[in-house]
Amino acid sequence: MSSSTSTLNVDSKSVELAVKDGTIGPSVIDISKLYGQTGMFTYDPGFTSTAACESKITYIDGDAGLLLYRGYPIEQLAEHGDFLETCYLLLYGELPTAAQKADFDYRVTRHTMVHDQMNRFFQGFRRDAHPMAIMVACVGALSAFYHDSTDISDPQQRMIASMRMIAKMPTLAAMAYKYSIGQPFVYPQNDLDYTSNFLRMCFAVPCEEYKVNPVLSRALDRIFILHADHEQNASTSTVRLAGSSGANPFACIAAGIACLWGPAHGGANEAALKMLEEIGTPDRIPMYIAKAKDKSDPFRLMGFGHRVYKNYDPRARIMQKTTHEVLNELGIKDDPLLDVAVELEQIALKDEYFLEKKLYPNIDFYSGITLKAMGFPTSMFTVLFALARTVGWIAQWSEMIEDPSQRIGRPRQLYTGAPQRDYVTVAQRG
Ligand code: SDX
Repeated sequence: MSSSTSTLNVDSKSVELAVKDGTIGPSVIDISKLYGQTGMFTYDPGFTSTAACESKITYIDGDAGLLLYRGYPIEQLAEHGDFLETCYLLLYGELPTAAQKADFDYRVTRHTMVHDQMNRFFQGFRRDAHPMAIMVACVGALSAFYHDSTDISDPQQRMIASMRMIAKMPTLAAMAYKYSIGQPFVYPQNDLDYTSNFLRMCFAVPCEEYKVNPVLSRALDRIFILHADHEQNASTSTVRLAGSSGANPFACIAAGIACLWGPAHGGANEAALKMLEEIGTPDRIPMYIAKAKDKSDPFRLMGFGHRVYKNYDPRARIMQKTTHEVLNELGIKDDPLLDVAVELEQIALKDEYFLEKKLYPNIDFYSGITLKAMGFPTSMFTVLFALARTVGWIAQWSEMIEDPSQRIGRPRQLYTGAPQRDYVTVAQRG
């Protein structure tokens, strides 16, 4: 990594700061010594201009609408590979050979069952508990069952914990869904591929044979690829920060699930579908566009805009294509929600406000329509996002743990509170 320097003049001082260049993308100014040299902090509350780490996993060019996993464009991975191949790539850095892929699939498949006492966890939840609440609880609780893979200093234990989480997320997600509809849990079946297994655990019932639709399984597998990782987004940064304290991997991933749940982040797919349902018909779109533009109205077009993509989210394009594939396969000719979404996108992309603020549909805009058509309730949409993102969180967490320069993350602040003052007794407080 080549580097030069940049000079910062603070008061009467001139401070030399190293500039580091990456493989591609913006260079960084290393300010790690700034406080020691100037007694000042930098200030960047939303981290809009801050690189929190060095990483080799995912690269995004927001202006070019580019997304690379370990250098491979998302379009090519989604077109030619499957989700477990993407998991291998994100974890190990290279595409697997046929033998490596077969071994990886075998290992993941044989970790899909959960400890049978996990079933008792579910009895404690109300049937109408949000499945994301259940996922935060259950994934965090995995550390109560798997003490043999919580020592983060042991690479072997880190890998076992990683395989367990990748393998068990679909099982836990399906259990959360089954519990919410009062149906019995369905055990994983080892002769099915990862995503077909998940569909069967969600939609099979004991009373009859369940046949996985290969078109739907392929579509959902592709959706998992699109959601697998995304650089230093909010939930990934949460996982890294939790992991920097040495917390066990299950607890760190549970923290990531909790952060992803927010409507500004992974919760947007659920919020976007609810928004489309609230709009209801294309003729009501102008009213909602006006609300989104009205500064005094907190309403935002869910599924639109992105901190990094100031051009079309490349995942949204693939998502839109997958939506049409799934609706065709299911014989859904005119989905009113899709009509509203297509019309909303066309109006918004011609509107000055959205063009000027570079607000384009993101991955969450079309995913809800597809998942609803497949039979998932809205409350499960973010669970599926978390299922897919688990490998990205784990890859980023492992990269941080293996980084020799890694220290506990501990940001500072700009303090604007009360200056020091003495205690006043209650009698003196008037
Ligand atoms: C994900 O980071 C990642 O990579 C996330 C993700 C991943 O894979 O991990 O890609 C997944 O979280 C996708 C984003 C899903 N969220 C939504 O769809 C929710 C709706 N979008 C927004 O809330 C917003 O666009 C964010 C949160 C996505 C981005 O917020 P930013 O970058 O902080 O932008 P901002 O809030 O500062 O907005 C800039 C301007 C503002 O107007 P001004 O104050 O400059 O006048 O754009 C406006 C905002 O009001 N704006 C919107 C808008 N999004 C931004 N106005 C209307 N509708 C919107 N959706």
